[in-house]
Amino acid sequence: MLIVLNHKMNLTLSEIKQYQKQMRKWKITEELVICPSMAYLSLFENSRYHLGSQNVSCYENGSDTGEVSAKQLQSLGVHYCLVGHSERRKFHQEDDNKIKEKLSQLLENDITPILCIGETQEEKKAKVTNKALESQLEILNSFSKEKIERIIIAYEPIWAIGTGIVPAIEEVEQVVSMIKTSIQDRYQVAIKVLYGGSIDTENYTRFKNIRNIDGLLIGGLSLKTEKLKQLFSK
Ligand code: PGA
Repeated sequence: MLIVLNHKMNLTLSEIKQYQKQMRKWKITEELVICPSMAYLSLFENSRYHLGSQNVSCYENGSDTGEVSAKQLQSLGVHYCLVGHSERRKFHQEDDNKIKEKLSQLLENDITPILCIGETQEEKKAKVTNKALESQLEILNSFSKEKIERIIIAYEPIWAIGTGIVPAIEEVEQVVSMIKTSIQDRYQVAIKVLYGGSIDTENYTRFKNIRNIDGLLIGGLSLKTEKLKQLFSK
């Protein structure tokens, strides 16, 4: 079970130091990935968890002001990187072309991409969730079977991110099966699928226990160290 903590654009340096103190009290039995803000990546090396990045440049190196390359991330000990998060797609015009380049850069540099996909509220209402997800997964057509095998998918219904509204457990189970079957049928590979969207203390165990789930991607709750301490010691 992979638990990915996405801090997004939160915490200052002094808060990060406090956070790290609190982290020492966690009794982590799961495989943990921590994705702090890019500015703090180098402060997070530790053998008890893996380091994840929230973003990566589409390019290998050179003139890309403000961006960080996969090679630079690798040199910082980064093992995982989020790609195609709905906030990146929406606020940073991250389209399929960019996502494809990012996936390539990460795979070239031995960083495991966590590719986020999810349907909008409108798509859910129109009952076209599977179609929307299948279409987002088409990006995988550009990669070899060996490369697809190294990608993790995070299913994050867009309407569930940061809203406190979550899908029913059965719905997630059905979507995760659909994603796994679709990838197995198309490319003959078994991949890991995570769920993300409004995970909190009261639903954490339910989502974690979904029959076919391989992990969770946690946003808001990842900032609440006391709550995490309780969850991780369960
Ligand atoms: P949330 O965020 O847990 O705050 O809904 C999840 C995410 O954006 O990955």
